Amino acid sequence: MVVLKKPLLMARELIARCVSPGDVVVDATAGNGHDTLFLAELVGDQGKVYSFDIQEEAISKTAQKLIDARLLPRVHLICSGHENIAFYVKEKVSAVMFNLGYLPGKNHLLVTRPDTTLSALKASLEKLRFGGVITLVLYSGHTGGEDEKKTIIDYCSKLEQGRFTVFLYEMINWANYPPALLSIEKHNSVK
Ligand SMILES: C[S@@+](CC[C@H](N)C(=O)[O-])C[C@H]1O[C@@H](n2cnc3c(N)ncnc32)[C@H](O)[C@@H]1O
Repeated sequence: MVVLKKPLLMARELIARCVSPGDVVVDATAGNGHDTLFLAELVGDQGKVYSFDIQEEAISKTAQKLIDARLLPRVHLICSGHENIAFYVKEKVSAVMFNLGYLPGKNHLLVTRPDTTLSALKASLEKLRFGGVITLVLYSGHTGGEDEKKTIIDYCSKLEQGRFTVFLYEMINWANYPPALLSIEKHNSVK
């Protein structure tokens, strides 16, 4: 058994710890639908997942995965940028997952960007309930990735201590730009 899980799996482990059946959560980057499906299973039939992507193809792939698993009724699929979270999501949420970058095997120009990712993160911090968690899997190997990673880390490193705990989890001995996981927990009192 591997104890130190890779960032994508570690993100899921953190999310699973703070999400209960009946909760409302967000997948900020639907992509091929793996994370949306994972979240739909976690929230149960009384919960709700809002799932965003700017690409029709990602939304339809995600929809098909959910139909196959009979979980589509739990998910609100939104073909729009995650920077519009505040417009679509009115409830407090337990978790927000970001898996940044581009849709694997597709157009590398349709990629998450520092300014819109940062807007979405700020909106997510507002929507997050106390005790909730945001995970961001950051990639630096593609054009603009390093800039996005730096933008997010710089912003999060200044989040008020006591209101937020922020962790950066990164493999520092792997070649070829391995992903990193940034996770944020929101508190209602000074820790
Ligand atoms: C690495 S993929 C996500 C993988 C996905 N979580 C999964 O489980 O398969 C990144 C996705 O972010 C999407 N994306 C890019 N800019 C976005 C934006 N502003 N809002 C929402 N999604 C965006 C891309 O279209 C792409 O599908």
